[in-house]
Amino acid sequence: QILILDFGSQYTQLIARRVRELNVYCEIHPFSSAPALTPDIKGVILSGSPCSVSQGSAPDLDLNPYRGKVPVLGVCYGAQLMVHKGGGFVEPSNVREYGRAHLNMVNDKIDLLKEITLNSQVWMSHGDTIQRLPEGYELIASTPSVQVAAYKISGEPTYGIQFHPEVTHSTEGKTVLRNFVVHICECSQDWTPTTFIEETVEGLQQQLGNDKVVLGLSGGVDSSVAAMLIHKAIGKNLYCIFVNNGLLRKGEFQEVLDQYQHMGLNVRGVDASERFYAALHGLKDPEDKRKAIGRTFIEVFDEEAHRIEGVDWLAQGTIYPDVIESVSVTGPSVTIKSHHNVGGLPDFMKLKVVEPLRSLFKDEVRLVGKTLGLDLTILRRHPFPGPGLGIRILGEITPEKVRILQEVDDLYVRGLKEFGLYDEIWQAGAILLPIQSVGVMGDERTYEAVVALRAVTSVDGMTADWYPLPYEFMREISNQIINRVKGVNRVVYDISSKPPATIEWE
Ligand code: XMP
Repeated sequence: QILILDFGSQYTQLIARRVRELNVYCEIHPFSSAPALTPDIKGVILSGSPCSVSQGSAPDLDLNPYRGKVPVLGVCYGAQLMVHKGGGFVEPSNVREYGRAHLNMVNDKIDLLKEITLNSQVWMSHGDTIQRLPEGYELIASTPSVQVAAYKISGEPTYGIQFHPEVTHSTEGKTVLRNFVVHICECSQDWTPTTFIEETVEGLQQQLGNDKVVLGLSGGVDSSVAAMLIHKAIGKNLYCIFVNNGLLRKGEFQEVLDQYQHMGLNVRGVDASERFYAALHGLKDPEDKRKAIGRTFIEVFDEEAHRIEGVDWLAQGTIYPDVIESVSVTGPSVTIKSHHNVGGLPDFMKLKVVEPLRSLFKDEVRLVGKTLGLDLTILRRHPFPGPGLGIRILGEITPEKVRILQEVDDLYVRGLKEFGLYDEIWQAGAILLPIQSVGVMGDERTYEAVVALRAVTSVDGMTADWYPLPYEFMREISNQIINRVKGVNRVVYDISSKPPATIEWE
């Protein structure tokens, strides 16, 4: 595997994804708890950072345990750090270099830059510049504005690059990473969904033996793939529970339950809608609603789990981004929304936890699901928040408001599929606003609810852009909604990106 040491760059996870796209396993660790070198670590990549090496408080790390023993590649800050420690000179540049640049000198005789072409486009994002290399550091690439775009340390397989090979705007970045990971570190490219499934199932069999496992299914990709893996390993000893919180999409509880049963999973569907509505009664504040939904889920799940005799394990669909310890070099971040995953359970269940997807990114979970034969409707489903329609009905929730929003959402999502737009969009949904507006239907005055439609493109939900829905689609769907859903007389479209807005309205 490749060890990636994180100095707090926004791109660190992208480096990991690119390495894994080469079918090579890698792990991210914070620089402050860098693991010791073990025989399975074939190379080390040092990430970028928002810091400057000349700052007193800049992240620092003794590289002697790695350098000269395995190949090392410093990217941006990682490259600057090795220069700074080697006695070279790194200085804040007059202008922060950000964006595309082109290599006007490349030494492609050096193994790291094999097949990299002159004029290759690279992505720069740095405030500091390497002004002078230490002795024994060889210059191997430049751009017109940055002389030291890449270097190699003589006599050892240690390299530094100022540009970001992990960003797709570095058009030959993947070749640089392949050169490093495959040719220089000699990693074998055998980390594929199939080998992951084989190894994981075998590992689960050893770990779980004849024990019983309980798992909460949500209808989403993660919990479904986790269930399939564990089911493959231990069959009927996996007990799945699928709770209807009354805040799912129209008809989804029965549909998804049928699919799970069809897949051979041992699944129990529990309709607890009324209990959730009762817990939500009178609550208006988004965080209070989230808490009530989370708490009720735990109560229901706990009761159901206790009906299964002799359960030892709780399975969860935790994925790698939830596990990576984030490096904070710019101070703690504020909580915008509590986002608690309804799958999270308290200690009182006293069960051991098994998390078969802990090492996977979301796109890898999808690949594993696909390889396992997971139904396309689950695999391609848009993300849906744990609290469901509960955070799309602004203000107080009533069963009647849920019914209205389910109808609207159903027409909207159906329409997106019919118009071939669903797969173009990362996430879409309708929001029921807590205001009424005047309308006219026939000769009658109406005073009814307003709904907003939202559709965004995104990679990971951290940032998002609103999707330009075709007018023709908007005309058709707004008509359908107003004509068919009793209680709604106005439809608006949300054209806010994140930031500064968020994807959900609450
Ligand atoms: P925001 O609204 O923060 O949403 O831009 C980003 C992503 O997170 C989902 N989301 C949630 N998921 N529990 C969840 O499990 C929550 O409380 C929650 N709030 C937002 C949202 O749907 C989007 O995919």
